[in-house]
Amino acid sequence: MKILKISLNGFRNYDWETAEFSENTNVITGENAQGKTNLLEAVYLLSCGKSFRTRTDRDLVGFDFSEAEILAEIDSHGREQTVHIRLIPGQTKKITVNGVKKTASELSETLNTVLFCPDDLNLIKDGAAVRRKLMDLAICQIRPKYAALLSEFNRLYEHKLRILKDWREKPSLLDTLDSFSDALCRVSAQMIRYRASYVDRLNEEVKPIHREFSGNGETIELQYRTVSTVRNPFASAKEIYYEICEHQEAHRQAELDSQLCLTGAHKDDIDIQINGRSARSFASQGQTRTAALSLKLAEREIILQESGDYPILLLDDVLSELDEKRQEFVLNRIGGGQTLITCCEDTGISGRTGGRVLQVSGGRIRTCT
Ligand SMILES: Nc1ncnc2c1ncn2[C@@H]1O[C@H](COP(=O)(O)OP(=O)(O)O)[C@@H](O)[C@H]1O
Ligand SMILES: [Mg+2]
Repeated sequence: MKILKISLNGFRNYDWETAEFSENTNVITGENAQGKTNLLEAVYLLSCGKSFRTRTDRDLVGFDFSEAEILAEIDSHGREQTVHIRLIPGQTKKITVNGVKKTASELSETLNTVLFCPDDLNLIKDGAAVRRKLMDLAICQIRPKYAALLSEFNRLYEHKLRILKDWREKPSLLDTLDSFSDALCRVSAQMIRYRASYVDRLNEEVKPIHREFSGNGETIELQYRTVSTVRNPFASAKEIYYEICEHQEAHRQAELDSQLCLTGAHKDDIDIQINGRSARSFASQGQTRTAALSLKLAEREIILQESGDYPILLLDDVLSELDEKRQEFVLNRIGGGQTLITCCEDTGISGRTGGRVLQVSGGRIRTCT
């Protein structure tokens, strides 16, 4: 999958601008606050209908504009496709592919991206939420049904949490608590199966990448962690459901007392070990950065296997955060697919990739090579 051309109209600091990309490596350079990340954000939106920086469409629309538009020519599975997104604050996004209306989650059928930004360098050390997000975003791209499960889960979770927060003032709310808990257990059971099998695949893919990347034969091992009563996360959804219900029953009173939702897939995590020890507790900064990047490159391989095409790799300001050896590894490893790399001008990265250089300044894009 490749993006050939993009036009931005009223998007962030782009009034009206068009850029054409190389099918291999594209280096987007420029000073700070010129629109490099904004350009990557637009490409990311084309793959999932969401931004990685904001949930509010108003933020995406240029300060002096009432709506924004992203138009792109994509090469998807050898076919040229036109993706069009209109963002009008207060309305749902208007998305079409070749003129046919689509939902945000359907965009992944046309285009996939794997994003790596500076925050991702902390994927290993940060709290479990970032690793759940890693699983969720990745699975949504390859399993559209999962996206629906996830939004159902979030809806039920929010509702149950409201009941738990408010039941003391309004005891009648308790009438529906058990049915929400039950629905949450059911949806969790299905999500757990998806997540377990994704982490299993990620584990297989990340091992050889990390071994090579770390240079000294480090071994990485991932293990999926979920609700403690679930003995086998690969079992049928029905079995998992019964096991989560055990947890739910045992924690019903504690939920009422703490006013927190204690049972469900919202506390899942990936346990990451490097050379047999918890990476979160013991790995050095260099090791955790290597591991984080290995995970993203592994995600890219899984999308290739699933869709037959490499996703677009979006590297936002991360190369300059890595030492030269790691930069070389990444640059050597990304062949075969299209990559968009943003970096500041003075990093010297643009000359080393052999790719096209796009210079961004004040919302204008100039192609240099
Ligand atoms: N909705 C918006 N309308 C106009 N300008 C915006 C909007 N959102 C962000 N910007 C501007 O975009 C610039 C930041 O762009 P960004 O792509 O993050 O920079 P960088 O080149 O450092 O990656 C800032 O100057 C900011 O004011
Ligand atoms: Mg930036």
